[in-house]
Amino acid sequence: MRKKIIAGNWKMNVKPSETAALVKAIAEAVKDVQNVDVVCCTPAIDVPAAVAACKGTNVHPGAENVHWEQSGAYTGEISTGMLLDAGAEYVIVGHSERRQYFGETDETVNKRARAAIAAGLVAIVCVGETLEERDAGKLVEVIERQMKTGLKDVTAADCAKLVIAYEPVWAIGTGRTATPDQAQEVHALIRKTLAGLVGAEAAETVRIQYGGSMKPGNAAELLAKPDIDGGLIGGAALKADSFAAIIAAAK
Ligand code: 13P
Repeated sequence: MRKKIIAGNWKMNVKPSETAALVKAIAEAVKDVQNVDVVCCTPAIDVPAAVAACKGTNVHPGAENVHWEQSGAYTGEISTGMLLDAGAEYVIVGHSERRQYFGETDETVNKRARAAIAAGLVAIVCVGETLEERDAGKLVEVIERQMKTGLKDVTAADCAKLVIAYEPVWAIGTGRTATPDQAQEVHALIRKTLAGLVGAEAAETVRIQYGGSMKPGNAAELLAKPDIDGGLIGGAALKADSFAAIIAAAK
């Protein structure tokens, strides 16, 4: 049995001064939740406040991106050592918005994911097709390419620190959700592709989150599918009550 994992991706929302209040409201709302991992991935500048607010709660802090080098002349970047020093436990890697707007490639996703896992962070590695790719019949090809290149040289042992998020780009922030059957089909493909990389036994242990307009109203039916082990939540993670309602659907 894989433990469900619900993670918020705050994106470029929530100021440092607003962070503690949101984390505390979430922590209060989920204080009795035992069987779901609850994570808030925040802008890097919010991480210290989130870490402080998560202390003594069952909410875990994370970041939204990380660089693969430890230090040096990489203006604007943040290393795994910095995130760990600040107390982050998780980091999102290869979100489609990084791929779309900031030149992220499967190769850089791979560098970031391997650096995060090697440092001891849990990497939430994102994959997902655009609407054009889906309509052109390239779904399988795109997911397999993102998995094989993005997770190159990731080992079975690394799977303890790996979460995969399937986020169809056409479902992100659009209000248009993949149907549970559509999502399950891709989650099964992801697990099969992962099994080819790390072996079936390790692949069975890896949680695969769905992301893209997941809300209290559609979470339960998505999370009921056998290979949907959680959610990566954007808009609905910015309010404690909607985020907690999704977590309630997972437990
Ligand atoms: P929304 O939940 O706002 O669609 O965002 C999903 C997402 O991109 C999470 O990483």
